[in-house]
Amino acid sequence: MQGLSLDFTGMKKFISDEEINQNLYKLNHAHNKLEQRNGLGNDMLGWMDLPTKRDEEEISRIKECAKRIQNQADVFIIVGIGGSYLGAKAIIDLFSNSFSNMLPLSERKHPQIIFAGNNLSGKYLRNLVEYIADKDVAINVISKSGTTLEPAITFRTLKVLLEEKYGIRGAAERIYVTTDKEKGILHDIAKENEYEMFVIPDDVGGRYSVLTPVGLLPMAVANIEIEDILDGAQFASFRYNNRKLEANDCYRYALYRNILYNKGKDIEILASYEPSFQYFIEWFKQLFGESEGKNHKGIFPVGVNLTTDLHSMGQMIQEGKRNIFETVLEVKVDRSFIKLPSTEDNKDGLNYLANKEIDYINKQAYKGTLKAHIDGGVPTCVIEIEDLNEYNIGQLIYFFEKACAISAYILDVNPFNQPGVEAYKKNMMDLLKK
Ligand code: PA5
Repeated sequence: MQGLSLDFTGMKKFISDEEINQNLYKLNHAHNKLEQRNGLGNDMLGWMDLPTKRDEEEISRIKECAKRIQNQADVFIIVGIGGSYLGAKAIIDLFSNSFSNMLPLSERKHPQIIFAGNNLSGKYLRNLVEYIADKDVAINVISKSGTTLEPAITFRTLKVLLEEKYGIRGAAERIYVTTDKEKGILHDIAKENEYEMFVIPDDVGGRYSVLTPVGLLPMAVANIEIEDILDGAQFASFRYNNRKLEANDCYRYALYRNILYNKGKDIEILASYEPSFQYFIEWFKQLFGESEGKNHKGIFPVGVNLTTDLHSMGQMIQEGKRNIFETVLEVKVDRSFIKLPSTEDNKDGLNYLANKEIDYINKQAYKGTLKAHIDGGVPTCVIEIEDLNEYNIGQLIYFFEKACAISAYILDVNPFNQPGVEAYKKNMMDLLKK
């Protein structure tokens, strides 16, 4: 299984061998474009090399810096939006206790981690400012452009606060900046104030930046083994480079989703039965949404957390318009070891489940739902993750990054730009400058 494997059984009756054969040439073209680095957006392919061409010095500096942050802060605030926070939030959630920020430091073993600068809510910022008033704080502000409004507003607010609290020099020792190596307002502020800086490479876009300091520094602060994440991604970069469809699950996934799209299945639901995957699903949505939604084309990426959303979206998935397909993330090994207790009176009638692991019950819900969805006309594939560890999650990250690039090339759009996001920004700035 090698940590990650895909089961396409639930897609078989929706995709014929003939359709696969007819579309194989598109996959070959997409593979060649990536391999020869001559496709659309080919100046943004740095993500492909991140796991293999590592900057060991930078990794050491990230780890040292993470230790310093752990020693100096009760609360570590990551200020960023879109690709500048989703990857870090996704991975930190996966490896953290579900109640991490409520645990005492002795159990958590790192500062409380809070994400900010990913909205324009006054309530959120007011609550944050009040929450950190009596706490020691460190900030990592992350923005490739250095001009994005949401993190800029939050950063200015926190910078003023920290300077009042620790003085200008004291604040500078608690502010860490991840941005472009030479341009942008954030870069200039960081230089002027001598903040510790980390660079987002020119050839890596925001949504492909989780394996740069954008994701690695916050992960290291949360005691995640960043080298294991990179090792997993490196393994995936070799594993998913085989042009033969039968030997490459990443390419099968990319091709099948495009075949389904051409048959009117233009919504993909990424589902997980583990709530800590919620932000991984958000990361996936951004990756595919910003990469594929162009030229009035694209598969609309959505996500559901199950079984929770079976009580909200279940009906729609089962019997709504048949324009959807589903990809399920399933973790095989359970380490929670919690069983349903038996009771003498059995008032709630649940003794038929007594002494069964909760994960076993969850897995039966998953199996039952999977069958119901396939029977109900939803093509479904399952991504099986053997065990929830850094190595396998590193593989999963690279799997989706590569699948997204290949899929966008099959769709004939540039995976690495996002011209559409300028439209709302222009209107907003016109209104704000009035
Ligand atoms: O993928 C992208 O490029 C975007 O989602 C960006 O990550 C997001 O807009 C934040 O941009 P920046 O890092 O420049 O603040």
